[in-house]
Amino acid sequence: MSEDKKHTKKHGTAFGVDIGGSGIKGAPVDLGDGEFGADRVRIPTPQPSTPDAVAATVAEVVDSFHLDKGVPIGVTFPAVILHGVAQSAANVDKSWIGTNVEKAVQHATGRKVLAVNDADAAGYAEALYGAAKGVDGVVLMVTLGTGIGSALIVDGHLVPNTELGHLEIDGHDAESRAAESARDRDDLSWEAWGERLQRYFTVVENLFWPDLIVVGGGVSKHHEKFLPLLDLRTKIIPAELRNAAGIIGAAALAADYRG
Ligand code: BGC
Repeated sequence: MSEDKKHTKKHGTAFGVDIGGSGIKGAPVDLGDGEFGADRVRIPTPQPSTPDAVAATVAEVVDSFHLDKGVPIGVTFPAVILHGVAQSAANVDKSWIGTNVEKAVQHATGRKVLAVNDADAAGYAEALYGAAKGVDGVVLMVTLGTGIGSALIVDGHLVPNTELGHLEIDGHDAESRAAESARDRDDLSWEAWGERLQRYFTVVENLFWPDLIVVGGGVSKHHEKFLPLLDLRTKIIPAELRNAAGIIGAAALAADYRG
């Protein structure tokens, strides 16, 4: 594949919204460099986080900006998303399962949107503008947070909905042992959590043989506490875009898929 086919330079503006457990955040993104075109707006996620309440809050975020009608809009959601519909709800209100996230947000905003998995958005952003920029081959992004999210990017193309947080390892749903929330819940030292991560990433690298693993999620800002503890064949590095990655990746994917 030629260089320009793999990592096509993007341009223009798109809008990204990151729907998280505690906040719904949005900003316009310059697709040339992945930078925000204006300060991000954040509104607390309504509780209970039902589809209607969340869609109304997304509309509030979008309406805080004066966007042209045609600007592509992408929203992240922490679940498997197939053709706009949430198929799972590991760490969100179960009423989301079967909900068409795109339709709910379109109805509330009056705009066409693309809905994508949260880790997919973050991984795509890191591949385009962050830690994995320009990296050929197989890049795996793993986000460590309430759950474990994953994104598989092959020569710049996203393979969506990989859900590697739910691998069954030693009889457990992997994220229930190795997510950042498990470190917190079980009051683990970095070393004790590191052992769980070692087990997790060993299984993952033996199944996927990635060229590079990028670790994201809020805890990645403390990467020097746990990444050096890992002994892996694969190069493993921290994410760079931090909590902007979801917004940036959602915007970029929306621009790609606008048809
Ligand atoms: C969900 C994924 C999500 C990840 C991070 C997992 O529990 O199944 O869809 O990407 O958490 O939010």
